[in-house]
Amino acid sequence: MRDAYKAIFEPLQLQSGKHLKNRMVMAPMGHLGSLTGGYISEEELAYYDKRVRDVGMVITSATTIKEGTHYPGLPAVETDEHIPGLRKLSAVLKSHGAAAVMQLLHEGANGSGEAPSAVVAENSELPLPRELSDTEIESIIKKFGDAARRAIEAGFDGVEIHGANGFLVQQFTSPHYNRRMDRWGGTSENRLAFPLAVINEVKRVVAESEKPFIIGYRISPEEAETNGLTMADTIRNVDMLADQGLDYIHVSLHQFWSKPRRGTNDTRSRMEILKEVVGDRTALIGVGEIKTPEDAAMALSTGVELLAIARGLLLDPEWVQKVHEENEDLIKKKLYRGDQLDLMLPNALWKMIENFIPFED
Ligand SMILES: Cc1cc2nc3c(=O)[nH]c(=O)nc-3n(C[C@H](O)[C@H](O)[C@H](O)COP(=O)(O)O)c2cc1C
Repeated sequence: MRDAYKAIFEPLQLQSGKHLKNRMVMAPMGHLGSLTGGYISEEELAYYDKRVRDVGMVITSATTIKEGTHYPGLPAVETDEHIPGLRKLSAVLKSHGAAAVMQLLHEGANGSGEAPSAVVAENSELPLPRELSDTEIESIIKKFGDAARRAIEAGFDGVEIHGANGFLVQQFTSPHYNRRMDRWGGTSENRLAFPLAVINEVKRVVAESEKPFIIGYRISPEEAETNGLTMADTIRNVDMLADQGLDYIHVSLHQFWSKPRRGTNDTRSRMEILKEVVGDRTALIGVGEIKTPEDAAMALSTGVELLAIARGLLLDPEWVQKVHEENEDLIKKKLYRGDQLDLMLPNALWKMIENFIPFED
């Protein structure tokens, strides 16, 4: 590898003791290739097998944790019946030395029909969800723990709590989505009660297994909604998350270098600000339009420990290997209509891929 890209291939030890062979992570991507009921499919295994050979860690597609809230094509970890398929998946993910992390999802207002309050995203045409009762909230917290137990039984190295992209966990933290006046809402502190309870439940389950196991948490900084999370809220929430003994906090962004929308006068990028907030308390994962090794090296120079790539790995499963072998000029940057088989992309994802990566003609 070239000297300029050495930082990409530095190993990293996470707090749980897990060792990552380099700094590149396959970002969580819903590939829509799981079978009815969220069971693992052969096309999904082939899709991952092609992409996990050289990354240090792979985070799976969002995986649904609660029966009855399933999204077609996503994998599920909702019942013990899902474990045998998930075991096959973890074997593929780990087969070349990547750490295998399962992303745990409850969609909340964006599709599941149940949410902290009967509120959807601003300008959304989705039907209004039902407000969860206190007992139901307790039960969902337990389901995150059940999901972690199943991930352990299925041979995974860790779980990532999906607290980003407007789904249930984020909704609890948000003044837009969470209008509750009970112990789960009403103040910024109460709005953090749900994510903290989920983290503690997952930690409790992991401690019982007595094996090193990664616990990560994905957040989205800020929300576009008028009364949504601001950068000031994000800084406070990340500061709190950094004290929870997590292995990492993963900051979901379209663009790694994006700047705050509101809530601070700081003109630096969100990642630079959050790195200063977190310090060395936990690792940070950055993501968003990391297309070239130059992009990766520059992003790592902020001190952020890990970088995730999503679309770049859809386009070129050998991205990391090419950089390692000094073949970065061969990294594929365009998508052609005949590429599906070569890229091993599941049919349902292929049908929608133009929404994520435009075709070249
Ligand atoms: C097809 C597709 C599916 C995605 N599914 C998920 C998901 O399941 N969970 C998640 O947190 N982010 C998901 N994302 C967001 C990515 O993880 C990533 O944050 C985003 O694509 C920006 O990274 P990139 O510029 O490298 O593509 C998805 C992105 C794409 C393109």
